Amino acid sequence: MSFKVNTLSPVLGAEVTGLDLGQTLGANLVNDIRQSWLDAGGLLVFPEQKLSTEQHIAFSSAFGPLFGAPGQPPLQETVSRYLHPEHPEIYRVSNKVENGEPQGRDRAGTYWHSDVSFRECPPTASILHAIEIPGTGGDTMFTNMTAAYDALSDAMKEMLAPLRAQHDFAQTAATQFAERLVVEDDLHGRNRAVHPVVRTHPETGKKGLFVNPGMTTGLEGFDRQESDAILGFLYAHATRPEFIYRHRYRQGDVVMWDNRSLMHYAVDDYGDQPRYMERTTGIGDRPV
Ligand code: OGA
Ligand code: MN
Repeated sequence: MSFKVNTLSPVLGAEVTGLDLGQTLGANLVNDIRQSWLDAGGLLVFPEQKLSTEQHIAFSSAFGPLFGAPGQPPLQETVSRYLHPEHPEIYRVSNKVENGEPQGRDRAGTYWHSDVSFRECPPTASILHAIEIPGTGGDTMFTNMTAAYDALSDAMKEMLAPLRAQHDFAQTAATQFAERLVVEDDLHGRNRAVHPVVRTHPETGKKGLFVNPGMTTGLEGFDRQESDAILGFLYAHATRPEFIYRHRYRQGDVVMWDNRSLMHYAVDDYGDQPRYMERTTGIGDRPV
């Protein structure tokens, strides 16, 4: 099997055609995909794949261990009801309800974020399979945090270099973002971590911003107003249109993004139209 890579936007993203992700991919192919992914800024789209949940998990596992896999930590204890009942590797994002049971977390991620950044070791790739999509709407936006960092002045880069930020799931749950979120557990403590504001990507060696409005609560050592002002600037800067690629789904699309170098945002514009996505999440390193 060989594949073709077509750039989706100058700043971020490429589409990979010629692959059936349901097949077992050899180590060489997996390495080539990984390199294309890094070259594309950490965002690949595999259009219109027909994949079972098991095949989705098998494809994802080729890139490293997954949260929820046997012997690995769960993705997040506080929202375990949104995991797939038979496959704890699968987090479900969906507004569907069957027999009174939510089939996933409704409107997850309708704010700029990097998945579960409040973990001590946040994820590498999230791999999302779009199984049921609205007729229109329900896009996902991605922003390139490496490009955003590069575009800062040297003076700003110097100021940010030593800074650390706290991330806490309670931030997500305390805001308007949480309207439809049901948590099962004490939010405080276990879902919290401190990370550098600028992290170095372990595979590319590139620096990127690693703060996000969904989960970052504040900068260490700064008072609230100072922290809000600096973070507010960084969020406005990092979400400029020049850094963003917006993906419009076709049914079956598999989208693989790098949580170490991107933020993403689920656009909530599809009303009651059904939407069902399954996601795997790769276990990453502690950010440095
Ligand atoms: C996610 C997420 C985006 C979307 O799965 O991590 O944020 O558009 N979802 O559903
Ligand atoms: Mn997300």
